[in-house]
Amino acid sequence: MILLSKNVKGAFVFFKEMKISLFVALSSFLMLQGCFMQDSLPPATELALNEGFKNPLGFYDAIPSFSWKLPIGTIEQRGFHIVVASSPDLLPDKADLWDTDKVSSNQSLYVPYAGKPLSSRKKIYWQVRYWNEKDNPSQWSEIAKMELGLLQNKDWKAQWMGLDTRKDSIKGKNDIILHTPQQLRKRFEVKTTIVEARLYVSAKGVFKGYLNGEEISSDVMAPGWTPYQKRIESLTYDVTDLVREGENTLAFQLASGWHFGRMLWNKMIWGKKGSPQVLGQLELLYSDGTKQTIVSDESWKGSTKGPIRFAEIYDGETYDANYEMPGWTTSNFKDDTWDQVIAEEMSDSIQIRPKRHNTVKAKIKLPTQNIIHPQEGSAVIFDLEQNLVGVPKLKVPMKKGDTLKVRFSEMLAPDGSFYTDNYRSAKSTDHYIAAKDGVIDWHPTFTFHGFQYVELSGFDTSQTPEKDWVTGMVQYSDFDENGTFQSSHTKLNQLQSNIVWGLRGNFFDIPTDCPQRDERLGWTGDAQVFAPTSIFNADVHSFWNSWLQTLRESQFENGGIPFIAPDVLENGAVSSGWGDAAVIIPWEIYMRTGDISVLSENFQMMEGWVAHHKSATENYISKMNSYGDWLQPYQSEQSKNRGDTSKALIGTAFFAHAAHLTSKAAGILGLDAEKEMYQKLYKTVAQAFENEFFEKDGSVKNSKGTQTAYLLALNFELLSENKKELAKLQLLDKIKEADNHLRTGFLGTPLLPKVLDDMGNIDLMYDILLKETYPSWFYSINQGATTIWERWNSYSKLEGYNPQSMNSLNHYAYGAIGEWMYERIAGIKALEPGYKKIRIAPVPGGGLTSASASYDSPYGNIESSWKIDNSTFYLEVLVPPNTSALISIPSADAPSVLVNGKKVQEWKTIEVQESTEGFINLKVRPGPYQIESNFDL
Ligand code: BGC
Repeated sequence: MILLSKNVKGAFVFFKEMKISLFVALSSFLMLQGCFMQDSLPPATELALNEGFKNPLGFYDAIPSFSWKLPIGTIEQRGFHIVVASSPDLLPDKADLWDTDKVSSNQSLYVPYAGKPLSSRKKIYWQVRYWNEKDNPSQWSEIAKMELGLLQNKDWKAQWMGLDTRKDSIKGKNDIILHTPQQLRKRFEVKTTIVEARLYVSAKGVFKGYLNGEEISSDVMAPGWTPYQKRIESLTYDVTDLVREGENTLAFQLASGWHFGRMLWNKMIWGKKGSPQVLGQLELLYSDGTKQTIVSDESWKGSTKGPIRFAEIYDGETYDANYEMPGWTTSNFKDDTWDQVIAEEMSDSIQIRPKRHNTVKAKIKLPTQNIIHPQEGSAVIFDLEQNLVGVPKLKVPMKKGDTLKVRFSEMLAPDGSFYTDNYRSAKSTDHYIAAKDGVIDWHPTFTFHGFQYVELSGFDTSQTPEKDWVTGMVQYSDFDENGTFQSSHTKLNQLQSNIVWGLRGNFFDIPTDCPQRDERLGWTGDAQVFAPTSIFNADVHSFWNSWLQTLRESQFENGGIPFIAPDVLENGAVSSGWGDAAVIIPWEIYMRTGDISVLSENFQMMEGWVAHHKSATENYISKMNSYGDWLQPYQSEQSKNRGDTSKALIGTAFFAHAAHLTSKAAGILGLDAEKEMYQKLYKTVAQAFENEFFEKDGSVKNSKGTQTAYLLALNFELLSENKKELAKLQLLDKIKEADNHLRTGFLGTPLLPKVLDDMGNIDLMYDILLKETYPSWFYSINQGATTIWERWNSYSKLEGYNPQSMNSLNHYAYGAIGEWMYERIAGIKALEPGYKKIRIAPVPGGGLTSASASYDSPYGNIESSWKIDNSTFYLEVLVPPNTSALISIPSADAPSVLVNGKKVQEWKTIEVQESTEGFINLKVRPGPYQIESNFDL
């Protein structure tokens, strides 16, 4: 876990290793170039499978693909050799599973396995070597490994098991059952020494596992959220070190989680029948080669008399220390009074499959910054000065028998009162009942909250509150952050921080709309809008691929895609711009990762969605329902949050765009007939769109000419050449009318920077971006935002919360601007899928004097960092091995350009390409570059 602390400027900073600096890169590049002269090149590093898994345990895919990175100093890969064996001793010469021999290829990503078939539990070990641009071979890499999980239902001997908690649980509104959490345990004997132990677990609900009193893992809310009626994920744990000779005890705590939670206003899609259950299978391998398996079945004991009396995602957790059962997870405990569990055979109808992305973990600890003592009452408020998602760690003095009440808030009302109305029906309150006097040390286990402020009441009031009573444990899916963005503008840096916190707060096993109120759902529209920005900031390749599986499983038979995945509505309804996540996200992931499997896995879903669009049209004009340009500012009252852009215009635009992307995907997959068919469809729909919605003079007809109407037409390339130019002028007029402010909601906002950029109106985009007044990104920052808000005006210092009940202060959609910040302010963009070809084209503007970004691409770290000093433009760039880059320098004066201290014309390895107005374009090979040129502001 990372500890965050505040720096002098007030922003939270990480204590973690900095990315490789350009200077280090330059020296190691030169050093390695030298050592490459010798005969054995340094090995490939960061060996990974599929979406970047390193040495995975319980892996999900029996036909994995292999990737590696080449050391800095390598220009290009000419060939590779992969060896795969069932034991590390067989490597590299006696690989018994797969030996590719030397393959002449520059592919260093996603090489598909084509060796002997692999099955559940199988372990593989692998190595790779490469040949560089001079066809010299490298040393073999270190050995990487992978172990498969249980891939099929038939691998399980275990049964679904648990207590019937329907009968003695609390009844909520509309008689829904709020199940009391349960404890489950089983004692078993281990005969002699074991060499290996694996625990496979899944649950209908969420679990924590224990072996001989030790927590099996720090996973939070495992196994996570999938369409439970079709697929539930399983996890694999290496518990070899926890098993001992003699008596052992395996135990689980089990709570409702999403499966039996009252998700989406008590719909209880999966929780109508039954009670939470766990599925556990512990497989032991003895030193003499014999095996023993302990499974969940009716021989287990269970109790609902544990200290977690209540746990619900929206409502919080109640812990009564009087119910503690010391030692219940160990063999030293009498469970005679416990009940016998009920066990049920596994059915084939629900697939139990290994989890295909990382579980949620507590990733960051955030200390309290400030204690506030309200005027009235004995409650005290702890301010973490950062809106976050997770749970509080509480170290609070209490008196025996007292109840500590823990409430949460995203922002106080301007009068200092504790505001919770925007949580709507989510009670989001924890309780702790003390069994003795003294300091408790506790955090809730089976719930999570979205908050900046924690209010405590019921503590020992004879003690003075201290900051260390409350620490924020920030929880999100366990991915690494892999991008950084910084500039000379403090508010732009705060915006970047807000975007990243929005990501942390809403990547909680699935991409959610918000993390705090009675929703926290996988809204598809929000997801498609934010996906590109998320990939810049975090390694979320597997996160998205995993959710795309959920999306596929949620697709209706008629090709429709629900608003939310997992679908907790089950009403068959669709919305344009939302269901389009099915097409846009696979395409975006492919472009950024180069992973073709994301297209092949999802192609059928894409086709289904395009067909669904088509079925909802008349003469190619959409009649599809739409949430529209959701939450567009200054919309007319009758638009009811959906913005003023016509639904038909939005639906038709997305129909055309979906056909266009599906055509491109077909092209990549080598499906030529489909490529042509969807291209034709795109063109036909675009023509219909233009005829229906655009006048001769390029203005919108038959509906309101909103900024978003123009943005959709221009960004999705739906207009003929002449009309396009006229529409651009109309858009500029609209922006001018709005005093250079945006008027866009969820759908239009991500398109605004792209369109203005393509039009060459970057200065205008800077102007809009740096606006301080409503509606703008900085407006929220000026009102104290530390995350991205749902509405452009969710809160103001003067008037407090927007009175609309739907008002989250942690909604990532408008954070979609992050993509442009990386791609244009700092200047890193993929020109070819996976960044095989990179464009480094920063465009200074808005009075910025510097900006920089780093991005850990599939080929390695890319850096672009510029500053302007004394009429000189300095640009530092790092281009990773096995790629190439096109660097655009904002200068018109080629002779003034110096690269690594030498005139650009003197470089044999740099091609000065045709330059565009005011820019000099250089085609470069991998390596570090320090560039200088004259720059007139
Ligand atoms: C959610 C959204 C979502 C929208 C659909 C809201 O309740 O929070 O972000 O996209 O509904 O219009």
